[in-house]
Amino acid sequence: MAAIDALQSLLAARRTRRDFAETPLSRKDVETLLACGLGASGSDRKVVPSAGALYPMRLFLVVGAVDSLQPGLHGWTAGDGLGPLLQPGDLRPALQKAALEEQPWVGRAAALVIIAADIEGANAAFQDQQPDGTRGARYAAMEAGAITQSLYLGAEALGLAGVLVGGIDDAATAGILELPSGLTPLALFACGQRIP
Ligand SMILES: Cc1cc2nc3c(=O)[nH]c(=O)nc-3n(C[C@H](O)[C@H](O)[C@H](O)COP(=O)(O)O)c2cc1C
Repeated sequence: MAAIDALQSLLAARRTRRDFAETPLSRKDVETLLACGLGASGSDRKVVPSAGALYPMRLFLVVGAVDSLQPGLHGWTAGDGLGPLLQPGDLRPALQKAALEEQPWVGRAAALVIIAADIEGANAAFQDQQPDGTRGARYAAMEAGAITQSLYLGAEALGLAGVLVGGIDDAATAGILELPSGLTPLALFACGQRIP
């Protein structure tokens, strides 16, 4: 199949899927999904675009049920893959409560990809582009969108189910995750095995 045909059928097949089977995810699939979202491309680029090639975005993984991974918050970087366990324990129930409105799929997902940004760093880099100095925050939101679409397409190609949860209480979510200094969680991508 020509590349454009394959791309168009993947785009057309992509759906938000909020129902998950109870089977755990494989570590390989979550690593592949993370690489779809923000993987390396060549020595100094990534699979998604970034304003000024600044790359202020970071991904983390909240594990609920993933083979051979302890429940909790794991770091992830494009070059090194999954990093150390930053916070042990099942964070899904608390994150479900921190979602705006009833979002039971947050608690049922086998894993949550956390999309985070260094907003201050981005604002500092682009402060001259806008009188109030917040152009970086706008760019970070655009970059989160690019990552989201890549995660959706990755999930679709892997045959997984996934949903972007942008409706989160910012302060509550940040308080639960306690991400490394300077990083703000913007959204979660909840994913799991698809119900056959
Ligand atoms: C910025 C953004 C935020 C979203 N937030 C949520 C959310 O908090 N909870 C949810 O269940 N779906 C959320 N969605 C998914 C949308 O509801 C979904 O994309 C829409 O219904 C269209 O369906 P489709 O993705 O299958 O085309 C969000 C989507 C976007 C783009």
